[in-house]
Amino acid sequence: MRTTYRRVLAVTGAGISTDSGVPDFRGPQGIWTTNPTAVRSVTRKDFLADRQVRCDFWQMCRGAYERALPAPNSAHHALVDLEQSGRLIGIVTQNVDRLHQDAGSSPALVHEVHGTMATTSCLRCGLRVATAEVVARVRDGEAEPLCLFCGGTLKPDTVFFGDHLDRDVFGRAVALAAMCDLVLAVGSSLCVEPAAGLCRTAVETGADLVVVNAEETPYDDFATEIVREPIGTALPRLVAELVAA
Ligand code: APR
Repeated sequence: MRTTYRRVLAVTGAGISTDSGVPDFRGPQGIWTTNPTAVRSVTRKDFLADRQVRCDFWQMCRGAYERALPAPNSAHHALVDLEQSGRLIGIVTQNVDRLHQDAGSSPALVHEVHGTMATTSCLRCGLRVATAEVVARVRDGEAEPLCLFCGGTLKPDTVFFGDHLDRDVFGRAVALAAMCDLVLAVGSSLCVEPAAGLCRTAVETGADLVVVNAEETPYDDFATEIVREPIGTALPRLVAELVAA
């Protein structure tokens, strides 16, 4: 890898959080790999049409909230180091776990193109509440918590399959992809568009692409370098090279 990069964009996926105990989706132990039907609970049309899908989703959330809160790992911290070196222009993350912010990445640099699990909104009146409050109601026995103001359906502010991405957030991500000189694609199978297409946008506007992922991705052919080493060691090593240059 050339190391004289000055405008690095990180595009991260679920693989950057597996060392924190957060399962990914398509890896060997991923959520979709081990339970293919689970994807219905985050598919908009199924979620809206089927009350049981919504109840199953809230039980899945309750389980996640009852596990120990995940902590950022060495890979998240490496991106903080890269930011502090002045070479990082942004993190476009597909993750909804807020571990980049928890690690100390500046919130203004983190673009959550698939939304966040931190808040939940009513699909009828738009009221927004903390997801933790909704999960507490599930823990207290509510099968499907509804909006306390209008009785409407509640849905976390994450992007489900079939949802549109936030145009402002994704617009900023595209702008960053067009201005960077290196994209570090970390822990993503790069198979969900339009987020994965940021790698192509960056390369087509002159950037290099380094893919850090255990498995092949559809964008490997665009990559200057492919790193199959575990992210927890690979990313700190790559950042150390970038910062030293
Ligand atoms: N080191 C290297 N690679 C890893 C590690 C690790 N420690 N842990 C996981 N990976 C790799 C997996 O092999 C996999 O290829 O990370 C990749 C994660 O890919 P996905 O599970 O598909 O996650 P992601 O690309 O973020 O999914 C994109 O799909 O389900 C939707 O909305 C969801 O944002 C998500 C989107």
